[in-house]
Amino acid sequence: MHTRWQRPGRGPAFLVRPLRHGDVRTVMGVFKRLGEQSRRARFNGPKPCLRFSELRQLATVDATHHALVAYVEGDPQPAAIARLVRDGRSAEVAFAVADEYQRRGIGSALTAELLADARAAGITEITALVSSDNSAAVALLRRVLRSLDIRHEGPELMIRARASEAQRPALRHLNALMHLNATERPR
Ligand SMILES: CC(C)(COP(=O)(O)OP(=O)(O)OC[C@H]1O[C@@H](n2cnc3c(N)ncnc32)[C@H](O)[C@@H]1OP(=O)(O)O)[C@@H](O)C(=O)NCCC(=O)NCCS
Repeated sequence: MHTRWQRPGRGPAFLVRPLRHGDVRTVMGVFKRLGEQSRRARFNGPKPCLRFSELRQLATVDATHHALVAYVEGDPQPAAIARLVRDGRSAEVAFAVADEYQRRGIGSALTAELLADARAAGITEITALVSSDNSAAVALLRRVLRSLDIRHEGPELMIRARASEAQRPALRHLNALMHLNATERPR
């Protein structure tokens, strides 16, 4: 996908761009903005810090790893990240929104963009492994994927859905602003 602006109905405008391979600084930038609870929810367990090997893995972009980053208008630091790891026609997704920007539609909008990329790349099934008490993640996936197959796997939920069921990003694409603003964003 190209860099572009989004404006969710209930939240601030934000710019979406693909993560560049090896961009550990951006991955760390989002991680730093997650509180203890959000880190635990994102990684399905305690995660006070990221080892460099984990950071490098999270910043990998290649034929099977893809990630999108969101920047809220007027804020130079990354606000959210959503990534997928492809396995054939299936892809596992994960996402995180900085605590201060949660519940404003950014997670849904960014994940919808990621799913659009997944569909465009021929992915037909989306999976996610989330903690069974992570109602925010389940609500987000229900919103963007509609029909979910949810199975308990110990303390976690294995969620599957058809990528074709995904809601198309229905947000306003402010492509006209793209070139104007993209150059002002941090690398
Ligand atoms: C999960 C997460 C990404 C949601 O992002 P967000 O930007 O707050 O989500 P949105 O504002 O787009 O809301 C999506 C849905 O989740 C619901 N939601 C958001 N936060 C919630 C919360 N704390 N409790 C319950 N529901 C919540 C919203 O009401 C909305 O539901 P709706 O479609 O029925 O109205 C965010 O809470 C987060 O970063 N959590 C920590 C990381 C994580 O849990 N990642 C998922 C595992 S990979």
